[in-house]
Amino acid sequence: MINIGLLGLGTVGSGVLEILDSRREELKNITGHDINIRKILVKDLNKKRPIKIKPGILTDNFNDILEDKDISIIVEATGDLEKGYDYIRKSLKEGKNVVTANKAVVSRHFEELTELAEKEGLAFLYEASVGGGIPLLKSLKEQLALNEITEVKGILNGTCNYILTEMERGLDYFEALRIAQRKGFAELDPTDDVEGLDTRRKLRILGTLALGSTILEEDIVLRGIRSIKAIDIEYINKMNCSIKLIGEIKSYEEGYTAIVEPMIVNKNSPFYSVYYEKNAVLLKGDKVGDLIFYGNGAGKLPTANAILTDVIDIIMGLSKTESPVGTNKLENINISLKGKYYLRISKVSKNIYSIMESIAKEILCEKENIVIMTKSMLLNDILKLLKVLEIKEEEYFLARKEC
Ligand SMILES: NC(=O)c1ccc[n+]([C@@H]2O[C@H](COP(=O)([O-])OP(=O)(O)OC[C@H]3O[C@@H](n4cnc5c(N)ncnc54)[C@H](OP(=O)(O)O)[C@@H]3O)[C@@H](O)[C@H]2O)c1
Repeated sequence: MINIGLLGLGTVGSGVLEILDSRREELKNITGHDINIRKILVKDLNKKRPIKIKPGILTDNFNDILEDKDISIIVEATGDLEKGYDYIRKSLKEGKNVVTANKAVVSRHFEELTELAEKEGLAFLYEASVGGGIPLLKSLKEQLALNEITEVKGILNGTCNYILTEMERGLDYFEALRIAQRKGFAELDPTDDVEGLDTRRKLRILGTLALGSTILEEDIVLRGIRSIKAIDIEYINKMNCSIKLIGEIKSYEEGYTAIVEPMIVNKNSPFYSVYYEKNAVLLKGDKVGDLIFYGNGAGKLPTANAILTDVIDIIMGLSKTESPVGTNKLENINISLKGKYYLRISKVSKNIYSIMESIAKEILCEKENIVIMTKSMLLNDILKLLKVLEIKEEEYFLARKEC
């Protein structure tokens, strides 16, 4: 029997229980073992749980799990950055394999935790932390043996994609956000999603694996979707295009660029028809060419499914213990990021108008808002210009047009 210590019994943790219950026999046939959830850590023992749990299994004391010698695998699904990190580190030091969905912890402590797992000869797997149910990281790791990955690009946040899709169907930003919250796709405080922080964490993990070089959150330019308005959607629709929040890392001979930004994509883009909470990721390998992954970026069962594929790999001895973090030292060349940009500014004065005219390839509107498509220019130059003109972030929306 394989005993698991489950940390967290929220959306993801309860999904893990549900799948294990419904696939018990199949899992036994494939792995040769009964998979048993021996203990579950929660924060509040008195909370009413919508699922049936065997008596005596819940605990609010992590040591009950850490000190249980029969538990060989920890599944961490708490979402707590500080405690989650502590639980994972202690579990590895205690000789337990770890599977986590906690992207905040993986992003913040990636190198340390993967090195610790290697030192201890244990598995540390985190498939569910990027792209939810999409089997992305395992496929990426497989391709790395044969390929130089030159680009990783994707829609990595279901909440933003949900809001943008609803806006394209006629709602304004706040209506779309409220629906996303009501349906459980957006948190009460949506900052991490709409400011792009969640996408940046996932891109940091993906990029570090793909380029074999540590890429930290602070190495990635961050621009979210908070300032988008219905008028922007109107102009983007008129271009027969769609707007997505995209995370993109590209490698060049001179170094790499890394950015999270709103991007205008046309009908030929693999991202154009990715709607609502779906995620999609493109990997470019020098041998395999373009690979596109599409699926549920979040949700109880898809995420639990990703966790359990990691658990199966550990039980079947398919997981490597060596750290997948490469030793390349690539230079960050974000300063070279450039393109043609859609720019809408709400606060228009004569001064601003004439400056916008000088960088515009096309002026789309010049009434209460000024809306332009710029000539090809450096992102840094546009951002500097907006700063000099004292235009606040909430007063403009800037999106790169995909070529
Ligand atoms: N939800 C998704 O679709 C999804 C997708 C991909 C990745 N993830 C990641 O999966 C993780 C879990 O997400 P979730 O949506 O399942 O969260 P959730 O519904 O808020 O559940 C969190 C669970 O962890 C427990 N918990 C929280 N802090 C704890 C602590 N310090 N010590 C012990 N237990 C603690 C809570 O206990 P109580 O029940 O007692 O409050 C709860 O059972 C997060 O890292 C998230 O980013 C989620």
